[in-house]
Amino acid sequence: MLNFDFYNPTQILFGKGRIADLNKVIPAEAHVLVLYGGGSIKQNGVFDEVMAALGTRTVTEFTGIEPNPSYETLMKAVELIKHNKIDFLLAVGGGSVIDGTKFIAAAALFDGEDPWAILEKRGSNVTQAMPFGSVLTLPATGSEMNNGGVVTRKSIKAKMAFSSRFCFPKFSVLDPTKTYTLPVRQIGNGAVDAFVHVMEQYMTYPVNSPVQDRFAEGLLKTLIEEGPKALATPEDYDVRANLMWCATMALNGLISTGVPQDWATHMIGHELTALHGLDHAQTLAIVLPSMLRVRKEAKRAKLLQYAERVWDLRTGDEDSRIDAAIARTQDFFEQMGVKTRLADYDLHAANIDPILSALETHRMVALGEKRDVTLDVSRQVLELSL
Ligand code: NZQ
Ligand code: ZN
Repeated sequence: MLNFDFYNPTQILFGKGRIADLNKVIPAEAHVLVLYGGGSIKQNGVFDEVMAALGTRTVTEFTGIEPNPSYETLMKAVELIKHNKIDFLLAVGGGSVIDGTKFIAAAALFDGEDPWAILEKRGSNVTQAMPFGSVLTLPATGSEMNNGGVVTRKSIKAKMAFSSRFCFPKFSVLDPTKTYTLPVRQIGNGAVDAFVHVMEQYMTYPVNSPVQDRFAEGLLKTLIEEGPKALATPEDYDVRANLMWCATMALNGLISTGVPQDWATHMIGHELTALHGLDHAQTLAIVLPSMLRVRKEAKRAKLLQYAERVWDLRTGDEDSRIDAAIARTQDFFEQMGVKTRLADYDLHAANIDPILSALETHRMVALGEKRDVTLDVSRQVLELSL
């Protein structure tokens, strides 16, 4: 096992009716900025519950944080904060709203000239952030219990990630009943995103870390079992609760302790979203199966372990077990309603060069756990995904 430093201060308030407990975790005298997306929380009652829980606190609203939140939109919230005496930020929504709020929390107190530098330096230049919490409505990203965020600058078509120890939510409310109104597409996206998060931290090479491996395998198996149930019986509380906790545990720092990490699939996926507007999970469903096929030799030991422990593939020679495990993975994404080929999104061979150029511009030229995913390897992956 590798050395590691584990730190996660986020308090989780999980279960039915927990929004009411915002009253206990937000200071009574705080002026709260409530941030949300395109309005789903107004339709499904979450907004009203949040407002009721905030009681007599002074509340200002910031609406319109879009999926794949943009720097352009988020900077409007930073201005709002600078001109009002806001003490606490409350993100209400999915990963985009929470990520956006993290950026706003850091940008509002940023010393440099232009907070875009936070993305350029991947968060290493963040020295403080405003306090914030979240009410999660879409289990997928793990943003509710981690310190990372992803922001898109539309004007230059760049989607970049940052992280900072100052950007953990103080708390997150996870009420599974609030996910009942999710469209089918977002249920599928959420399960695929969480699945790929686990794979980025698990599917590398062995370092004798059975605790982390078995946690990861448990999360993968749970997603495979519960994901399709959420599509079949959308208002099953236990299914939604298990999916929600699974997605949080998939990216809260626990399973990445002491193990190598990959993240090449995510980095290529970010370029697909920045250039073509695909949903985050759609990009992952396209890239991961080909990524595993192209890097089969480097990942052989873990792929065999994955085939056996996650998919119960125990017979046949090594290559056929690995190939079957990757095929099952791809089938699972399709079963969750997320298409896995570039052509499914009307993208073709001619679209590959611009994706590679974007990777080069963003210095994504040595990705993966061994930094051996060069632009040539990324090209092979994309060609195999056509
Ligand atoms: O905007 P509203 O109207 O709220 O609608 C949203 C949005 O259109 C809707 N939605 C959310 N909860 C709902 C709901 N609709 C009905 N009922 C509900 N309960 O769902 C749509 C998508 O929301 P979004 O927040 O964009 O989705 P997701 O949670 O998948 O977040 C994706 C973003 O997170 C980033 C991605 O790159 C992407 O920008 N990621 C963040 C990570 C992190 N912070 O650690 C890691 C991930 O790898 C990921 O990159
Ligand atoms: Zn992701």
